[in-house]
Amino acid sequence: MKRVGILVGREKTFPEALIKNINERGNGAVLADYITLGGVRYDAPPRYDLVIDRISHEVPFYRATLKRLALEGAITINNPFWWSADDKFFNYSLARKLGVAVPKTVLLPQKAYIKGIVGESLRNLEFPLNWQGIVDYVGLPAFMKPFDGGGWKHVSKVNSLEELIAEYDQTGTLCMTLQESIDFDQFVRCYCIGQEEVMIMPYDPRKPYLSGEQYKYDPDYLAPQLKARVMHDVRTLCSALGYDINTVEFAIKDGVPYAIDFMNPAPDAELQSVGEFYHNWVTEAVTKLVFKRLAEPAERPRYRWDALLNPAPARTEAVASSTEQSQRTVVPKRIRYVPELESETGEKRTTKKRPAEASKKAAP
Ligand SMILES: Nc1ncnc2c1ncn2[C@@H]1O[C@H](COP(=O)(O)OP(=O)(O)OP(=O)(O)O)[C@@H](O)[C@H]1O
Ligand SMILES: [Mg+2]
Repeated sequence: MKRVGILVGREKTFPEALIKNINERGNGAVLADYITLGGVRYDAPPRYDLVIDRISHEVPFYRATLKRLALEGAITINNPFWWSADDKFFNYSLARKLGVAVPKTVLLPQKAYIKGIVGESLRNLEFPLNWQGIVDYVGLPAFMKPFDGGGWKHVSKVNSLEELIAEYDQTGTLCMTLQESIDFDQFVRCYCIGQEEVMIMPYDPRKPYLSGEQYKYDPDYLAPQLKARVMHDVRTLCSALGYDINTVEFAIKDGVPYAIDFMNPAPDAELQSVGEFYHNWVTEAVTKLVFKRLAEPAERPRYRWDALLNPAPARTEAVASSTEQSQRTVVPKRIRYVPELESETGEKRTTKKRPAEASKKAAP
């Protein structure tokens, strides 16, 4: 019997529906349930074949537990290693390289820093910041939003340099981005499941949450060519990022879909919020993904951080062009063999001298 564990926050209808759906289809051979966790032993035996994570971005204990489960070979949706490493500014920059339209975006130094970081610690920072230059590049109005976040927390629209500075002064230790505002004609939020299955949802962000008016069902909302481009961009982004559950949001202006938010590895799927059609669609798509992943040959966990962080992509087209790749590919030089390290079995080992100070951490 295979076991599927679900890690959730406050949401109810989606995990309930998912568990029910998986158990019905599993018919005793696959069992899904909520995970219960207490003190986690570092040598605990594997309990789950697959885990769906909806909340570890808010609970570091869960994130640490998931990494351990992954090390034991549990399929973890989404990858906790990459999710920990990812941020929205990296995403915007990556999207641009992949040929997906993104509004002009600038990463801003923080307004404040943790205790112990003083003026002297920040000698690499340009001061004062060239605010006028930044605003000239991005344009006004603009959106200021955290480089890592969700739920519209600390997102603001600014109309002038004065407003920008006033808002920035409130951001404390958060690292923010400033982004060109797209005065959109259309807006869509798209589910992408398994880096492949896409559902485009016409979405009105100006309508209140749970009003029942945010999401509309209209398969013809986008013109055919635009729809094809959106589908392609969604798959490109999700497979480049490796997220198996994600949403991508586009603000569409003059026929160009600008990707504005695509780091949503635990997207809203609640019945009251997205409506019955989309709720059912995403429940079914995730159920299918669970069975697909469980049926794939189990890889032996490779105890290398890079294999966990960056597994082989589900599709290969979502990389920068081959010319760009070859330009950026560095072929490592052979490391010189050091004869005195030849082992008794005749196997050669290598060594590399580490600079005396290299292991020291820089003082803040
Ligand atoms: N560049 C932009 N142009 C136009 N509108 C924007 C832009 N960036 C953000 N917005 C508006 O602000 C809203 C919130 O921004 P964004 O989605 O980036 O934040 P978030 O905190 O990740 O939200 P969530 O994850 O809940 O969707 C968007 O739905 C959109 O209405
Ligand atoms: Mg969003």
